[in-house]
Amino acid sequence: MQRVAVDLILKADMAAYEKGAKRIAAGGLVAFPTETVYGLGADAGNGEAVARIFEAKARPRFNPLIVHVTSKRAAARLAELSPTAERLADAFWPGSLTLVLPRKPEAELSDLVTAGLDTVAIRVPAHGIAREFLNTVERPIAAPSANRSGRVSPTTAAHVEADLDGAVDLIIDGGPCPLGVESTIVAVEGETVRLLRPGGATVEDIERVLGYPMEKDAPAEDRPTAPGQLRSHYAPRLPVRLNARSVKGTEALLAFGKPLEGAAATLNLSEEENLTEAAANLFSMMRQLDDKRFSAIAVMAVPANGLGLAINDRLQRAAAPRSEEGAHG
Ligand code: TXA
Ligand code: MG
Repeated sequence: MQRVAVDLILKADMAAYEKGAKRIAAGGLVAFPTETVYGLGADAGNGEAVARIFEAKARPRFNPLIVHVTSKRAAARLAELSPTAERLADAFWPGSLTLVLPRKPEAELSDLVTAGLDTVAIRVPAHGIAREFLNTVERPIAAPSANRSGRVSPTTAAHVEADLDGAVDLIIDGGPCPLGVESTIVAVEGETVRLLRPGGATVEDIERVLGYPMEKDAPAEDRPTAPGQLRSHYAPRLPVRLNARSVKGTEALLAFGKPLEGAAATLNLSEEENLTEAAANLFSMMRQLDDKRFSAIAVMAVPANGLGLAINDRLQRAAAPRSEEGAHG
């Protein structure tokens, strides 16, 4: 059983933000909630602190991190925003869209943050606690999802503790993340916008703002510029069986809508077939069903529109062969 470390988790309030800011200034790691998932934060300009993120996550170094700031103005100190990037920032920030942009040479960013790339991924989170924390820290914060590499992203402080106890200095507890699925990542080069990872901001909404379609060609499996696309990025320990139409008595069922009968255990992403509710439940339910008592997790089909695209993306990664164990973030 997990031991509850009294000092590790603090309820989100001014005292917690200040304690967190001190930890960050000292090169420490602080986990904090965002509207998508919990992030494992470090000062983006402090290479050693950023290295500790990779260590804590056991994440390969070629995997670049998202930098969290409080405004478009703060983003513009780190990266070049083309008029198209400005338009997306104005429409989606604060919120669950991450923009991959050309890095400014003078930007105070550790190279580890960008994994040596000349682009940087930036996002302005909308979550009140994330914003308060960033405002208190007054530094750009590099933060991947606060899970150990290869595990699903954490949507509660308890998930973070279960994965990173001993590797994180402080966890700011803001309750469950409202969205429950990571940000959408797009790369912006001039007017060209390429979808790198589906997520909280829907493709439909982004294209409505752009007025034209994004590029969506999936990068090669091992393409180092977009490691988030590695197929087995999100991997529970149990085998995952997708689009189940029946379920064995030894299997755990992750249902959507009216559940199949006969499973050893069942959790329902959304009885009402509501994709927003399903996204918010996804990682937490996969974690709960990822138990040695079961032979596999059988997942019922989820429609691939709106947030369903991100949900299916995560499910496919969870079901992918595990040949890349240790090579995902
Ligand atoms: O919702 C989210 O995005 C959460 C919260 C904490 O903000 N963060 C998150 O970070 O999901 P992470 O590190 O787990 O995923 C970030 C993805 C990685 O797959 C990484 O490869 C990609 O972003 N990425 C970062 N910088 C990039 C860049 N310059 N070019 C291409 N991909 C990049
Ligand atoms: Mg992650």
